[in-house]
Amino acid sequence: MLNNIKISPSLLACDLANIQNEVEDIEKAGADMLHLDIMDGVFVPNISFGLPVISSIRKHTNLFFDVHLMIIEPEKYIDEFCNIGAQNITFHYEATSDVESVIKKIHSRGVKASISIKPKTDVEDILPYLELVDMVLVMTVEPGFGGQKFMPDMMSKVKTLKRIKEEKNLNFEIQVDGGINNDTIAVAALAGANNFVAGSAVFKEKDRFAAMENLRKLANTNN
Ligand code: DX5
Ligand code: ZN
Repeated sequence: MLNNIKISPSLLACDLANIQNEVEDIEKAGADMLHLDIMDGVFVPNISFGLPVISSIRKHTNLFFDVHLMIIEPEKYIDEFCNIGAQNITFHYEATSDVESVIKKIHSRGVKASISIKPKTDVEDILPYLELVDMVLVMTVEPGFGGQKFMPDMMSKVKTLKRIKEEKNLNFEIQVDGGINNDTIAVAALAGANNFVAGSAVFKEKDRFAAMENLRKLANTNN
């Protein structure tokens, strides 16, 4: 059976001086969601964009907002991201001391709650939370910057998650983020990922429809 393949283009790679047109373009081209990378300059060594930018984009699109928080103490900002239209909030396991309450806080707002791990974090650390989350994001680069090289070593984490998901009959999606492109998506799909963040591989291409169709096709051949 085919997995439910989803492509989530990362806004970080778009022409940031032209956000409205860029978002409208990928919506028309059939993006499944919009990946919004929030960086605080503390959890990761970079600063991206924040609440006012997301709330401005919300007025111009019906795309599902897939918010990836690369910030410390995510619990402090959950309400604000929910208020401006986040539909999934992914936070980092490494960024909070109380994972379970962050998940509960997000769910209490009717928003999907997902957990992410950086490349150096063991997948075993998040196994206690798999029954609670809607998605697990396995980072395939060190978070902080777009345009980096995919780390194939991370696929063992994806395989473990897929195995446990099947064994326990759980429902969470498996997302990968970082360096996903025509050369790497099949490897990630074969390992068990179904949800693919793609920044450069979508926004740096002129024809976004073709770029996403091709990615989907390459992901599907391995399921
Ligand atoms: C990295 C971000 C990614 C990034 C992906 O910290 O979480 O979402 O924008 O960009 P590409 O697909 O270009 O590696
Ligand atoms: Zn991301």
